[in-house]
Amino acid sequence: FKRTKFNDTLLNWYQANKRQLPWRETSDPFKIWLSEVMLQQTQVITVIPYFEKFITKYKDLDALANADEEALLKDWEGLGYYNRIRNFHHAVKEVQEKYDSKVPSKPEEFFSLKGVGPYIGGAVQSIAFNNQLAAVDGNVLRVMTRLNRDNRDTTKVSVQKDIKNFIESDMPLEAGDFNQALMELGATICTPRTPKCVVCPVREHCEAFKKGEVMNYPVKKKA
Ligand code: ADE
Repeated sequence: FKRTKFNDTLLNWYQANKRQLPWRETSDPFKIWLSEVMLQQTQVITVIPYFEKFITKYKDLDALANADEEALLKDWEGLGYYNRIRNFHHAVKEVQEKYDSKVPSKPEEFFSLKGVGPYIGGAVQSIAFNNQLAAVDGNVLRVMTRLNRDNRDTTKVSVQKDIKNFIESDMPLEAGDFNQALMELGATICTPRTPKCVVCPVREHCEAFKKGEVMNYPVKKKA
């Protein structure tokens, strides 16, 4: 599909329709990173109060780095996937020691930190530093496979990588907003069960919509 027009339309839609979320009120890379660690496996609505609590209690990277692991785990209670906060604590301490408490804006440095994989790396580097990287989560896989009628198995890492490369091959300058726009479209319009195609800003670009096959995507082969 026509990427340039698609990119423009999606970005304009996002500017006009984005939800006000607490991590969208900050440009502090530490807070953006914390939000993405929470959001990787937990819904927005659940994350909001935890995010607020954490940034109130741990005002900057040093405050969190210097915290006791036990206290962090206690504050994380209810969010689940506790390795996320353990890895984040470890990574934040690495940043404190190796990078003078400044979150690295060079992707290769950031990706070397504990717990930083393709999703967290792409999300933080694009949103905090506008580096031209994609952030492919489940929402983005659903949106992209519908747009392209891509019937490959999205549980395969090779397919996820390919979709990441496709997004990055024509990334707008506003990379952070673009990634968040794709996620926002997936979370609010291009939803799994009852997608709101009638109000979708990019349905004219959507191959699955044109064929009436939106519900056939994404393909997830059962293990
Ligand atoms: N899910 C993951 N990252 C997000 C973000 N930055 N905003 C909203 N939902 C998200």
